[in-house]
Amino acid sequence: MTRTYIVPIGSSPCPQPTPRGVAAIVDEPSAAGVPFAMQHRDRAPKARYFDQHFYELEAERLWSRTWQMACRLEEIPSPRNYVEYEILDQSVIVMRADADTVVAFQNACRHRGVKVIEGNGNCEGGFVCPFHGWCYDEHGKNSFVPARKTFSEHNLDADDINLISVRCETWGGCAWINFDNDAPPLRDCIEPFASIQDAWQLEAMRAEWWYACRLPVNWKLAQEAFVEQYHVVESHPQLVIPGRLLPRDGSFDPQTFLDAELHYLRMMSEGMAGMVHANDVQVAEGLRNIELPADGPTAVAQWNRTLNEAVVAWHRDRGSIIADLNELDAQGLNQPMGYCFPNFFVLPMYSSASSYRFRPLGPEETLMEIWSLTRFPVGGEPPVPPVPERWECDDDRWPPIPRQDFSNLPKQQKGLHNKGFEYMRLSERNEGHISNFERTVDGFLSGRSYDELLRALAELNVNPLERPIVDIGF
Ligand code: FES
Ligand SMILES: [Fe+2]
Repeated sequence: MTRTYIVPIGSSPCPQPTPRGVAAIVDEPSAAGVPFAMQHRDRAPKARYFDQHFYELEAERLWSRTWQMACRLEEIPSPRNYVEYEILDQSVIVMRADADTVVAFQNACRHRGVKVIEGNGNCEGGFVCPFHGWCYDEHGKNSFVPARKTFSEHNLDADDINLISVRCETWGGCAWINFDNDAPPLRDCIEPFASIQDAWQLEAMRAEWWYACRLPVNWKLAQEAFVEQYHVVESHPQLVIPGRLLPRDGSFDPQTFLDAELHYLRMMSEGMAGMVHANDVQVAEGLRNIELPADGPTAVAQWNRTLNEAVVAWHRDRGSIIADLNELDAQGLNQPMGYCFPNFFVLPMYSSASSYRFRPLGPEETLMEIWSLTRFPVGGEPPVPPVPERWECDDDRWPPIPRQDFSNLPKQQKGLHNKGFEYMRLSERNEGHISNFERTVDGFLSGRSYDELLRALAELNVNPLERPIVDIGF
């Protein structure tokens, strides 16, 4: 079938710098065989977000080759605890083998393919298939076949009737899986995200709540709503608080700044039900009478240092693990957002964070999960929040900030289909991550080598906010 692609007149089909001339519509596939490829770094063709063939290519060449956050470790606290991880048409058993090891298996009985488990549970004594009762031990090894003698020998080859292993590693308080036995190790694929989050002690955090949303949009469109700050003024007006920004004329009133800052922290906390945790807001409120200098930049720096110090002291006094936030600031490691390709986010604020995961349910349907993470005294961690039911994106139970983000998304997915609309135009400076991300997707879809992809991932797995368009190596 012929598809319509956009390339600049006279250009080669390889990724090009921003075109200055006129774009023409021609019927040519890109050189690498990727439909609707990112021919221009700052334009994302609309069909990437709904085309069935593009979606199938992602299943075949991206989701089958990437490390995916499969569960939080507190979901499987004890040996033999398991959860089911689903991605597209694949189902995986993720099981804690011992205190340090998590293993994974394809969730399909070797007899006639029935899913061996559903949801979560404990497999003390192994797994029993619910259909005819084939049994597997906790290593996935087949341990019993009812009426064994009724099968021919070649169908019961001992090496061929065990559950099929899936690669699994742990990091950052989560278990991660990858279907590709040739993929580089997890850590290589998620740097520098991993090192930055390690410095911030991500693995010491626990989920306070866990929600899930069914969004009627493509998975890439869904996550791209959360990677830039360009939308904040229009979509989240309550976060634009007079007095927080330093006036250009040099006038500065410390009390106005302090009031605005406390108001912002409360808005962020209530708006996300915890990204700035209520504990940290309380610590900040306790500082409302501190003396700040009359010089704006000095006052802002002093406020940040004082609040960081007070938050760290508050958590350490209670026996929680927390990094020295001022030291992280000095090292440039105290960042408001960490992105991990293809679908995992951490948004740290002081002691706590929101964390997102996006999974495709169809070309125009996404499951977005949000965890609110915070720190607890060692030994005083709460039970795991239950697996969330899937709320619709307009459900009244959503906190105000995600509800505002969600309200735009269905309108955007609809708008993309309009005949006159061909591509999204991206700001070089404010929406660079979207371009970097989409071009990395093309790298996977065109079958680039892991060496090439690792270089792109190292540019992508950073704080996406205000990240410009960068060279990812292809
Ligand atoms: S399908 Fe599992 S025992 Fe038959
Ligand atoms: Fe937003």
